[in-house]
Amino acid sequence: MRHLLDIETADRGFLDRVLESAEVFLKVLEQPSRKLPTLRGKTVLFMFMEPSTRTQASFEMAAKRLSADTLNFSPAKSSMKKGETFLDTLYNLQAMEVDGIVIRHSAPGAAHFVARHTKASVINAGDGSHEHPTQALLDAFTVKRRLGTLSGLKVLIVGDILHSRVARSNLFLWRMYGSEVLFSGPPTLLPREFEELGAKVVELDDALPEADVVMVLRLQRERMEGSFVPSVREYRRFWGMTRERLKALREDTLLMHPGPVNWGVEMDWEAQERPNTVILEQVRNGVAVRMAVLYHLLAKAEDLG
Ligand code: CP
Repeated sequence: MRHLLDIETADRGFLDRVLESAEVFLKVLEQPSRKLPTLRGKTVLFMFMEPSTRTQASFEMAAKRLSADTLNFSPAKSSMKKGETFLDTLYNLQAMEVDGIVIRHSAPGAAHFVARHTKASVINAGDGSHEHPTQALLDAFTVKRRLGTLSGLKVLIVGDILHSRVARSNLFLWRMYGSEVLFSGPPTLLPREFEELGAKVVELDDALPEADVVMVLRLQRERMEGSFVPSVREYRRFWGMTRERLKALREDTLLMHPGPVNWGVEMDWEAQERPNTVILEQVRNGVAVRMAVLYHLLAKAEDLG
């Protein structure tokens, strides 16, 4: 694969190789030097046109740990402020011979657009409510390390499914690996079309004790123009991972969240006291997974063996 644009059309062999290599890179990150020369001479451009903490920082750290040069494009300080189009911006940055572009954008399909107009390898770091493939990969990697498998699991995804690129990428990934995907959320935030893609819509309180993995999603208020939920308080009561709902989870159930968390809305702070709440472990694993993605897309063929 030359690009990683989504999980829906990704090659299963590529995803397997990323997950295997991430294990090796995690060990590298535990060594004192924490660095490899693998991508020396390569340049990775970060185009984050929407806010990010985890994805941007971990991609940058991943590229640096592999000795790539990095270039940060900041739209607010760029000539786009003077009216330059996105496409012209892309052509100009590409003229500096970048090898990889990591793009986050509010428009679904933005990463595909960039891939059509550049010679570089493109990685989708989140395009609107479409997909966030490296988030699904780091989620899967975290589950595999903890539970030892990616198949035969019940993965319950809770909350604002409608606006969630994480939910879509995870749905495609878990179906590909033979696990069941259960969706639960307010009807206004849970389009029935997801059932056609293989998700089963369930009642939250019935499904909690059955789930091997519970992924709680952020209520994405910035993408809501109308009123999707009566109030934040009602949302928490019906769909939040409250103290009471935490007690309904099996002890061995993994509790995950892609971040950032609206504490006290979709999840109560007490969730962090469970040994099998793995939110920061997801973040930590994200560096190794993104190293693996950069390695498989950018390393020379002879390095890949
Ligand atoms: N999970 C995630 O994409 O977080 P950021 O928006 O902080 O990158």
